[in-house]
Amino acid sequence: MLELNNVTKKFGGLVAVNGVSLKVREQEILGLVGPNGAGKTTLFNLISGIYRPDKGSIEYQGQDISKLPMDKICRLGIAKTFQHTHSFPGMTARESVMLGSLFGNGHHTTMAEAASEASGILARVGFPSEKTDKPLSSLNVIELRRTQLARALASRPKVLLLDELMTGLNPSEGAEAMDLIRGLRDDGITIVIIEHVMRVILGVSDRVVVLDRGEKIADGKPEDVVRDQKVIDSYLGERYAC
Ligand SMILES: Nc1ncnc2c1ncn2[C@@H]1O[C@H](COP(=O)(O)OP(=O)(O)O)[C@@H](O)[C@H]1O
Ligand SMILES: [Mg+2]
Repeated sequence: MLELNNVTKKFGGLVAVNGVSLKVREQEILGLVGPNGAGKTTLFNLISGIYRPDKGSIEYQGQDISKLPMDKICRLGIAKTFQHTHSFPGMTARESVMLGSLFGNGHHTTMAEAASEASGILARVGFPSEKTDKPLSSLNVIELRRTQLARALASRPKVLLLDELMTGLNPSEGAEAMDLIRGLRDDGITIVIIEHVMRVILGVSDRVVVLDRGEKIADGKPEDVVRDQKVIDSYLGERYAC
């Protein structure tokens, strides 16, 4: 579905992503983990076209997308949730989801269609219907997360990139979110998920890739990756220490 070959991205002298190769298979849930600053978000920004790789290629369904602009990539069916959402607090939940359908995956939607589609998508992700037309600034964390997910889904993605979507959720909310993500995969969506909570990553991922200082240091089944000494030294040791 998605194949990165030797992808490198530098910011000035800093190599944020260094020669990373990886594959994402159709309808797989791939977990992407690593310490802060490992390059995870940068990798998502490269896939979604926010940045261009300095080296290497990114193929999506056999097509090189590494030089395509962001909107084209989104219309091809790759959607990303954003880690930081401080934009447009006055916008309503419905309006933010409508943005996803109006600028997403090539279906030409009218405002009225987008407005009614937004209700359906918000319901699908468990957003409380009575808050559909409330401003984002009035929502709690879980409601905001649901809105972020709904906005990405509104673009009708084939590949969904989730960047720390579950941060700030309590364990029962996290479990609910994991069910939701599995359900999306069962609907045919391929998912790459960045998450710090190992319980979530291990619970939901078919395969896990570990990045450390821009480099891929492990790639395999969750149960094998957590036993990998390099992963324990660079990431898990640090996590369990805090
Ligand atoms: N736009 C940018 N300009 C300069 N440096 C950046 C930029 N984005 C990320 N970085 C740097 O690249 C490295 C990787 O960052 P990031 O991909 O956000 O890591 P992660 O998501 O794994 O925590 C960090 O050192 C970060 O400071
Ligand atoms: Mg990040």
